Amino acid sequence: MPKKVKFPSNFLWGVAYSSHQVEGGNSNNDWWEWEQKGKANDKSGKACDSWNRFREDHQLAQGLGCGGFRLSLEWSRIEPKEGIFSFDAIDHYRKVLKDLKERGMKRVVTLWHWPLPIWLVKKYGGWHKKETVFLFEKYCQKALEELGDEIDLFITMNEPIVPLNNGYLTAKFPPGKRNPLFYRWARKNMILAHQSCYQLAKKRKPNLPVGITTLFNFFEPKSASWEWLTKKIENWYNHSVLGNIKDYQDFVGIDYYFHNKIGFKPSFPFFICNENKKVSDLGWEIFPRGIYEVTKDAWQRYQKPIYIFENGLADSEDKYRQEFIRDHLIWLNKAIKEGVEIKGYFHWSLIDNFEWALGFGPRFGLCAMDIQLWSANRDQAIFIIKK
Ligand code: BGC
Repeated sequence: MPKKVKFPSNFLWGVAYSSHQVEGGNSNNDWWEWEQKGKANDKSGKACDSWNRFREDHQLAQGLGCGGFRLSLEWSRIEPKEGIFSFDAIDHYRKVLKDLKERGMKRVVTLWHWPLPIWLVKKYGGWHKKETVFLFEKYCQKALEELGDEIDLFITMNEPIVPLNNGYLTAKFPPGKRNPLFYRWARKNMILAHQSCYQLAKKRKPNLPVGITTLFNFFEPKSASWEWLTKKIENWYNHSVLGNIKDYQDFVGIDYYFHNKIGFKPSFPFFICNENKKVSDLGWEIFPRGIYEVTKDAWQRYQKPIYIFENGLADSEDKYRQEFIRDHLIWLNKAIKEGVEIKGYFHWSLIDNFEWALGFGPRFGLCAMDIQLWSANRDQAIFIIKK
């Protein structure tokens, strides 16, 4: 592997996080309720207090030399009651986005990174209900109307497959169902919502690049006889689960974390045979070549500019973080050299944050949050930049 690689001078380097994982105080969404019921390892509480301390976050990103910053809007804050939009919340996000611009960073905004407003869930149920599509369109419309001028890249949704699988099959995320029929409906509705938001955004802001982020796992057969099944799984998981995406994205948003070798082994999970030579704190195999493989595949299929919008690892002792980043970037660079149009890389995450059902345990941050101090004295939490 080369020791030194060169990226294009206009390559966008950035960091990412999402509203519920960092803002704190998002008490009006279904994740908050889920946490109160004891269904997550921790309660998000004040999280990283980024609602109040966003400028410090931006400063950290600036200090890291970032040219881009990915964040998400919180639906339950922008529309706290059905049809009632909060201008305080909108003003807040305008401030956040303007601050990023003043610091010279491109604003990558995700409209929906998983939580739904409580009023929506109480009245309609969630994504398995058609009404959610119409409500999402209205939310999208408002967000674009009010904040569209402050957005440089617009992502409608983050990794629909994760809330689908966990919300409707494993029941680890809200709405906590195990119902394949609801899964089907929810999937269909998410696709519809993405497609119509894409069209809406194109109409309203023709120059704004719009897309979606997808979890692209790298699947490999254990041996030739597993090739057929591997292809089928890969095709479903990385592509067809989202329906016809080709005509509804200006760029391909890739989140890369997982490598799965498909074969058979006699213990659970029976069809995943990773060698797991090196794993993160969450036991996820570290497999840098995968970022190259999925990016090449996406390029062949879609022929659209690619952004890596998430890639990272939970590593509380920073055992592998440095080599993880280096090796993934070397592989990414190889794809660029081979002609793939990759326009940016966003690391997950800027700071340690609330990792959904797993709570504050996993440490994905380039910058650490002193969680101990945080829980002892919530008003004096500090961020430490890791070396
Ligand atoms: C999600 C993030 C999450 C990260 C690490 C991604 O799938 O978009 O919200 O924190 O993975 O698990």
